Amino acid sequence: MINMNMNIQDITGKINRHIHGQFAEHLGRCIYEGIWVGKDSPIPNIEGMRIDVIEALRKLHIPVLRWPGGCFADEYHWKDGVGPVEQRARMVNNNWGGVEENNHFGTHEFLRLCELLETEPYISGNVGSGTVHEMQQWVEYMTLNGQSPMADWRKQNGQEEPWTLTYFGVGNENWGCGGNMRPEYYADLYRHYSTYVRNYGDNQIYKIACGANSDDYHWTEVLMREAGHLMNGLSLHYYTLPSGDWTSSKGSATDFTEEEWFTTFKNTLYMEELIIKHSKIMDKYDPEKKVGMIIDEWGIWTDVEPGTNPGFLYQQNTLRDAIIAGVNLNLFYKYADRIKMANIAQMVNVLQAMILTEGDQLILTPTYHVFNMYQVHQDSERIDLQYTSPKYTMGAQSIDKISAAASKDYLNRVHLTICNLSHNESESFSCNIEGFTPADIQGKVLTASALNTHNTFEQPEQIVPVALDVSFAKDGTLTFELPAASVAAITLI
Ligand code: AHR
Repeated sequence: MINMNMNIQDITGKINRHIHGQFAEHLGRCIYEGIWVGKDSPIPNIEGMRIDVIEALRKLHIPVLRWPGGCFADEYHWKDGVGPVEQRARMVNNNWGGVEENNHFGTHEFLRLCELLETEPYISGNVGSGTVHEMQQWVEYMTLNGQSPMADWRKQNGQEEPWTLTYFGVGNENWGCGGNMRPEYYADLYRHYSTYVRNYGDNQIYKIACGANSDDYHWTEVLMREAGHLMNGLSLHYYTLPSGDWTSSKGSATDFTEEEWFTTFKNTLYMEELIIKHSKIMDKYDPEKKVGMIIDEWGIWTDVEPGTNPGFLYQQNTLRDAIIAGVNLNLFYKYADRIKMANIAQMVNVLQAMILTEGDQLILTPTYHVFNMYQVHQDSERIDLQYTSPKYTMGAQSIDKISAAASKDYLNRVHLTICNLSHNESESFSCNIEGFTPADIQGKVLTASALNTHNTFEQPEQIVPVALDVSFAKDGTLTFELPAASVAAITLI
């Protein structure tokens, strides 16, 4: 039995809704097929974008969407993707499968998608192979109200009013696919490029510098020292690999042992150490925490589904993915004083996706269901939830068995999200709640009898949330039991 305790007056800060952000890259079947099918497609679409996908994503209330990459961003030349579709330049997507990119989905289409999803755009600019002028003109094209060469071109292309654009990334993974740069060199380039990322009129840009690859603390040190005063956010990328090894098999998405299950969670929990250590460096240069940590790529990365293009990063999504999503979101809330945004990779058909499509069919993944269950935390106040997790042990190694978070929303409803990482042990909970007597309680749990349960096009509802039994006693104690390998969300109203 785990005893938890919370006083709903013990607020530790706000959970920025942008922690629930998504990422959509020109990679595999994320944009093309997953979102964009073109206006003439037999698949029902609005202005070329799939209605079924948009309807499903709208339910998640996605706060922010990052685009066009990823590695693609530093080879993307935005001018190729505006103007009449049939006249747009074609290019090769060198990073992802060497396939043709016809640029039919460009700036106007992306910003329209954001309107349809009621989400804020986050655009990644090209530092690796683009010019300062090109970046400056892109921001001018999108945001300048009035007359200028770029604003006039935008109007000619059908968009009279400028868009509101807040989040702009100055390069992506410039330590790797974005130019193989040293931090000293990139810090200077960041200073240079970001100077010309201008605020036109009332539009205020939140500038995000390329941050470290997982435990590259030197990168964070140099960036904060040399350019910290010129940025609003600094990114961090960390992927959970079941095998922990980039050089050979990452591990199958669906065919794994209990040992691999455990190791995957051990690897995902390493995120906490990364957050703590990068935050410590950021605190040294920015004690007031003005610069946000932006975890704009995270999630599980497995081997691709057998028979699919290795460059398309198409992977299935099981109960394991759901708990990974739940654990990481709980963690991000804990450090929400520094983490201002996170973007899971990626939204449709790539890596840890919300949605998988096949022709005109669509399935919602277990990760989708967790984002749906957890969305109640968006912009809520984090409550200091006290508990000690028992250990989950495999051989000589152990990790915390339980991950949990609590918050209070603007209607004073209290939300609790809990993951049980153990593959074979259920857990009972008793949570003492001070300062709140609920009139109603709702609980949901996502679990399955097999650890690799996933939804397929033949059986799309193999794993969906179901009601969780929860009781509340007059003395203020909430009790419930979580099955092994599960994610739960409880709301007290
Ligand atoms: O999300 C897939 C790729 O992972 C991105 O393009 C890149 O930034 C990262 O290495």
